[in-house]
Amino acid sequence: MSPPTEYEDEKQKALSIEEAFRHEFEAFAPFAVKREGQPSSEPQAGFVLTTATGEKLLVELKALGTRYLGRKSEWASLKKTIGRLSPEARSHFGQFLMHKEIGMKDQIALAERTLQELIDAARTERETIDVTMPGRRPRTGHLHPVTLMRQRIEDIFVSLGYAVEDDREIETDFYNFDALNIPEGHPARDPQDTFYTTEGFALRSQTSTVQIHAMQRRGAPVRMIAPGRVFRRDTPDPTHNPMFYQVEGLCVDRGITMAHLKGTLQEFVHRLFGPETKTRFRPSYFPFTEPSAEVDYSCFNCGGTGCRICKWCGWIELGGSGMVHPNVLRAAGVDPEEFTGFAFGLGIDRTCARIYELDDIRLLFENDVRFLEQFR
Ligand code: FA5
Repeated sequence: MSPPTEYEDEKQKALSIEEAFRHEFEAFAPFAVKREGQPSSEPQAGFVLTTATGEKLLVELKALGTRYLGRKSEWASLKKTIGRLSPEARSHFGQFLMHKEIGMKDQIALAERTLQELIDAARTERETIDVTMPGRRPRTGHLHPVTLMRQRIEDIFVSLGYAVEDDREIETDFYNFDALNIPEGHPARDPQDTFYTTEGFALRSQTSTVQIHAMQRRGAPVRMIAPGRVFRRDTPDPTHNPMFYQVEGLCVDRGITMAHLKGTLQEFVHRLFGPETKTRFRPSYFPFTEPSAEVDYSCFNCGGTGCRICKWCGWIELGGSGMVHPNVLRAAGVDPEEFTGFAFGLGIDRTCARIYELDDIRLLFENDVRFLEQFR
């Protein structure tokens, strides 16, 4: 064992600082592995870090370096003692300290480089855009089958010279009943058939209300259709829904007769279902038309011989119709001595259900996208 030197105490101090450094550096030791012949851009095999973890470790490592080897460290004070030594001891102790310092600094530098590589790799991984990936196709929407049906009906009547009216769904008793020749006490007023708001307004139970609005707005002559929602206290079943769509038709002019009504609806079903389709008018009753008729058309599927779609009767109901009652013309401010007119009201949803061969009209209102997507 060599005799104690002039700088024995400082040497021991340096060794204990180095030991403490090595102890603390253990957390970073796995990153301070020299790799031979590996490109520096390739991250250390076996390590996967998130950028956040890598950056945290890097900060801690830099702090460790500053604490042990920085300008205000014990190590820096130790280096200052070199100047006080004899020239020979100065050289020895200087070399000793330098050797130890390079050893610690190398370790820190190695670990720093590895951590930086891992951080860069994690960042590249996160930010990489694979330009060869197929794009995400946006899901395109489409119109509801009832809307498609409504548009087909509108197109036909517009081409026949009809205007399209849009009107309110909440009505006063006057428009829903009185003006349509349904006075108070009339069975058609049965509250069972209509929804009321708390203020006493009625949710319209038929689009016939628009007949009055249209005549009041436009006067006569008038030719219009009014598609829209109506509400009834009907129990839902395969052919009934409490909310459904109707399209009202009204034609008022001088000399309008039942023949015009028949011809118009005949032309309509020809255009909708094909030229071989026939119509049939059955006597009926509506308070706002006289005479009144239910309109049927021959089944578009079997041509009238009977099939599943027409429930084996050969005919399908289109809606109600008739000649506008003079009281209705009067209530809307049109002189029944000068003008006559016809009106009709067709169920859009039921027609839609027939065309698409739906067994249950309620399918149209359940908003099940898997069902609706079939009708693009
Ligand atoms: C009427 O509503 C009359 N306003 C039609 C009318 C207009 C007659 C103008 C004369 C002049 P009706 O209650 O029959 O008539 O209804 C017409 C159509 O609406 C029916 O043929 C049917 O297709 C449809 N419909 C009726 N109730 C429902 C319901 N609960 N769900 C779905 N569709 C219905």
